[in-house]
Amino acid sequence: MINLAVFASGKGSNLNSILQKSFSGNLNAKVEIVISNRTQCGAFELADRYGIKKITVSDSEKEGAISYSELEVLFTEREIDLIVLAGYLKKLPESLVNNFKNKVINIHPALLPSFGGKGMYGMNVHTAVFSKSCQVSGATVHFVDNIYDNGKIIAQRCVDISDAESPEEIAQRVLEVEHELLPYVIQKFSDNKVIIGSDRVRVLN
Ligand code: GRF
Repeated sequence: MINLAVFASGKGSNLNSILQKSFSGNLNAKVEIVISNRTQCGAFELADRYGIKKITVSDSEKEGAISYSELEVLFTEREIDLIVLAGYLKKLPESLVNNFKNKVINIHPALLPSFGGKGMYGMNVHTAVFSKSCQVSGATVHFVDNIYDNGKIIAQRCVDISDAESPEEIAQRVLEVEHELLPYVIQKFSDNKVIIGSDRVRVLN
């Protein structure tokens, strides 16, 4: 069993998929903390519903929020094994990323390295994919480094979008795949099956 800290800014459907798989015994991981830059969001509603510690974080002083450096202390105290960005819209500070190297992962709703980088989040991604007339899209789970959507790729899943009529339709299809891919990768970490080689990342069967 590994301990997770999950960052989310939005509705938290990826957090929900992790929680449901964890509660049903299909994922050997426990969500210890949910962190957001917002004081109210779907992810926090989930945390409340399931009695999970929730924390608001801010890089400027904000009432009721803690700093990223305080958060780092908490990660150590709570023995966090893996930090999961599940729809977190802020960039993490370099110190956190460096101090937890290879322990921070993100899910991105496209096939990186295409359609990533600053500003490429949410519907912006799917609109760009649609307007390029891409025939496939998908989801990517990757390590987080200090550049947006740049870290090494751990796993990807493709989705056929050749008949998609709108960016919204692409978003819906990709999200379904995300809900399977992220718990799959977390389970691989739990099983010590994510191998970081000097050349590439390998996920063992
Ligand atoms: C997902 O599409 C994820 O890939 C992206 O942000 C979205 C979060 O959705 N990083 P949700 O809040 O988990 O529903």
